Amino acid sequence: MYQLLDVSKGFLEACGIKESDVVADFTMGNGYDTEYLCRKVPCGKVYAFDIQAQAVENTKKRLAKAGLDNAVIIHDSHAKALEYIKEPIKAGMFNLGYLPGGDKTIHTMRESTMPAINAAISLLQKGGIVVINVYPGHEEGCLEGEMLLEELSKLSRFEYCVTHLRIINSPDAPFIIAVERYDK
Ligand SMILES: C[S@@+](CC[C@H](N)C(=O)[O-])C[C@H]1O[C@@H](n2cnc3c(N)ncnc32)[C@H](O)[C@@H]1O
Repeated sequence: MYQLLDVSKGFLEACGIKESDVVADFTMGNGYDTEYLCRKVPCGKVYAFDIQAQAVENTKKRLAKAGLDNAVIIHDSHAKALEYIKEPIKAGMFNLGYLPGGDKTIHTMRESTMPAINAAISLLQKGGIVVINVYPGHEEGCLEGEMLLEELSKLSRFEYCVTHLRIINSPDAPFIIAVERYDK
C-alpha cells in the first residue's frame, strides 16, 4: 500500500526542485515537511506557516537540531500567505488536518484552506507544483476534500494538470491532490 507522504514527496521530486528554489510548507505542524523542504533547497528558502504556537516551537526545535537555517517561520494563517510571500514559489505543501499529538479541535478549515490554496497556486512559477494531503476521516476533512475536488477541477487544463490520487475501496483513507503548473 502506498504511504501518502512518500507519494506526495514523489510529486515534489518529479517537478525538479533545485537547490536555490523558494518553496513553502503551508501547514508546518511538527516540522517534518519543513525539514524535508529545507534539505531540498539548501541554498534557497522555505516559507512555513502554522497558527499554533506549539507547531512553531516544535518546528524551530527540529530545524535547530538538524542545523537548518533556511526557513522563514511564520506564526499566522496560511490564508494570509500573500502578505508574506512576495516572490514566485517552485513548490508548496499542504498537509491538512490537525497537529499530530496536539489539540484535535484545532484543524484546517474550508474557509481558510481555500484562500490559502488559491494563494499558493497564484504564487506558482511555471513548472511548479502544489501538493495537498487530504484526510477525509473526520467531518471537516471530508468537507474540505469535497470542496477542493470541486474547486480545483475548475482550473484551466491548458495551464494546470490537477491530479487526484486515492484508494478506491477505503473512502476514509487520506488522498492526494496535486496541482502542477505547466512549464510553457
Ligand atoms: C497535519 S498537521 C501538519 C503536519 C506537518 N506538515 C508535519 O510535517 O508535521 C496540520 C497543521 O495545520 C495547521 N493549521 C491549521 N489551520 C491552519 C491555518 N489556517 N494556517 C496554517 N496552519 C494551519 C495545524 O495547526 C496543524 O499543525
